[in-house]
Amino acid sequence: MGAPWDDPDWYDLHDTTWTAGPEREPEHYRELVIALPPLGPDDHVVDVGTGTGKLARLIAASYPSIGRVTLIEPNRPKLERARKRLGEALPDGRIGTLQGGIGDDAAPAISMPATLVTVGSVVMPTLMLAGGTLADGLAWTRRALGQCLGMLAPGKPLFLLETLAPPWAAAEAGSGCRRLFLPELVRELEGVGFEDVECVYRFRDRVAVRAARP
Ligand SMILES: C[S@@+](CC[C@H](N)C(=O)[O-])C[C@H]1O[C@@H](n2cnc3c(N)ncnc32)[C@H](O)[C@@H]1O
Repeated sequence: MGAPWDDPDWYDLHDTTWTAGPEREPEHYRELVIALPPLGPDDHVVDVGTGTGKLARLIAASYPSIGRVTLIEPNRPKLERARKRLGEALPDGRIGTLQGGIGDDAAPAISMPATLVTVGSVVMPTLMLAGGTLADGLAWTRRALGQCLGMLAPGKPLFLLETLAPPWAAAEAGSGCRRLFLPELVRELEGVGFEDVECVYRFRDRVAVRAARP
């Protein structure tokens, strides 16, 4: 079978339409928040790759009594902005920051186990920018997800919000690094020890995935 875009019917149907546009972003983030368990004063939420805090703020808006949040982000100015915004959203919450990232040799050292880890649009953008081969990217993904598992208390969930590889991306491990297909992401999650992996939202390339630490 040739590449899908070699088929004129498939091509006319999909030309520029496979990727969900930015108009789907609010729904994507909202559906992740809807899929979360209830959160309150005893919870410690760790938002990895928090950026300027978009996902963390949405969670805080729905659960304003969350007890503790740790924001992890390599970019210092973004981290400071996220902290300020979270402080406004959770005036009674304890908000910690860690400048750093997942997938490096040393995992970010959080002060106490998380009852929820969120990773909003971090894995696939990092893979896209990484260079190297897909095998390199999968090795980084494994390290990064393993570090997320290590942050969680037993039985507690990780939620990932990501945009996947398009169906025409090369599948071979020796090819260039790229976004992952959903089965690849599920395989990596299960490979590092997560269980009950479930896709809780999908629209075209946009997915939210839940996985639990055993
Ligand atoms: C597309 S933004 C998403 C920000 C936020 N989570 C959101 O949903 O809006 C990706 C963020 O991941 C950060 N980042 C890059 N490499 C990272 C890593 N290895 N670990 C954690 N975060 C990383 C970037 O600096 C950037 O702020």
